[in-house]
Amino acid sequence: MESIKFNHNTSILVTGVAGFIGSNIAEKCIELGCRVRGIDNFSNGRKENIMELLKNEKFEFINGDICDFSLCNKICKDIDFVFHEAAWGSVPKSIKQPLDYTQNNILGTHNMMQAAYVNNIKKFVYASSASVYGDNEDKIKKVGNEGNVLSPYALSKKSDEELGKLYYRLYGLNTIGLRYFNVFGRRQNPYSEYSAVIPKFINALLEQKEIIINGTGEQRRDFTYIDNVIDANLKSCTSIDISNGKVYNVACGESTSINQLYELLCNILHRHTKVIYGAERKGDIKNSLADINETIEQLGYNPQFKIREGLEKTVDWYLKNLDFEV
Ligand SMILES: NC(=O)c1ccc[n+]([C@@H]2O[C@H](COP(=O)([O-])OP(=O)(O)OC[C@H]3O[C@@H](n4cnc5c(N)ncnc54)[C@H](O)[C@@H]3O)[C@@H](O)[C@H]2O)c1
Repeated sequence: MESIKFNHNTSILVTGVAGFIGSNIAEKCIELGCRVRGIDNFSNGRKENIMELLKNEKFEFINGDICDFSLCNKICKDIDFVFHEAAWGSVPKSIKQPLDYTQNNILGTHNMMQAAYVNNIKKFVYASSASVYGDNEDKIKKVGNEGNVLSPYALSKKSDEELGKLYYRLYGLNTIGLRYFNVFGRRQNPYSEYSAVIPKFINALLEQKEIIINGTGEQRRDFTYIDNVIDANLKSCTSIDISNGKVYNVACGESTSINQLYELLCNILHRHTKVIYGAERKGDIKNSLADINETIEQLGYNPQFKIREGLEKTVDWYLKNLDFEV
């Protein structure tokens, strides 16, 4: 396996660059010396996420929408690697607005793959999601054993994966799909009604607001710290050829219930708050623990951060960067 040789001659395109994961990948690539072009339409991204990047002369920002093919074609010019992160997240929002998810997530990804193909991109690494496992009840989720999808969001990610495989088989575009499992870390938005569980809990604990846990709280997740996700993306660019056209789980390989997560955060923050147990959430997968063996063997993935260390770093970041009255 080649070691990563990203340097000043490497050009990267990051879609969804003003979002949580995109901004972190862009920041790492700049740190490695690459030139980075980023696109975002701010449908869920935040200016604060790219403030520092905008000061760097190696960073170029395009305020635009990947549903516009001619723009996708333009931004893929003179690019080596694409990290495609732009999409709408949130299972509940997708159940409310199913057509928007087809439009934004499937068409947007198709545009980007076609643009990457016509511009001879070396590798097209795209974000998929553990939601594609749907109603599969295996204790450990393995690529190849997917169930029925449970939401329009999951359907959009499954469609993206099919596009990724097709573009490799039909056109030889080197695509790699990364199925992220509950990513968390610095810059994840804690304020939206659709925020993920970790920023929501941290925000509620710091502001002493009540927490609503959906269902019993015994549902389990494979929470994955952002730096592990960055590692998987970078390693995908230099991975062995058999990884092309394939999809990989990107997780920590550690299973934590929502109740355990709450206790861990109470322990790190030295505070508790009121917890209310509500109804189960429609469209959620029951339990997710990933098999990451192939990701380690074929991509050289090295998930260095376990949940406790990741949570400590994340809490530390929120305390330093967001306005909480502590
Ligand atoms: N965060 C997670 O736990 C998680 C888990 C599984 C998969 N994913 C996937 O990872 C990717 C990044 O997720 P995130 O958590 O950083 O979400 P995010 O919402 O913070 O970032 C996505 C960014 O894409 C932008 N965007 C959306 N549609 C766009 C369009 N048509 N044109 C241009 N920009 C557009 C948004 O404005 C946003 O800034 C997404 O594809 C998401 O589905 C995330």
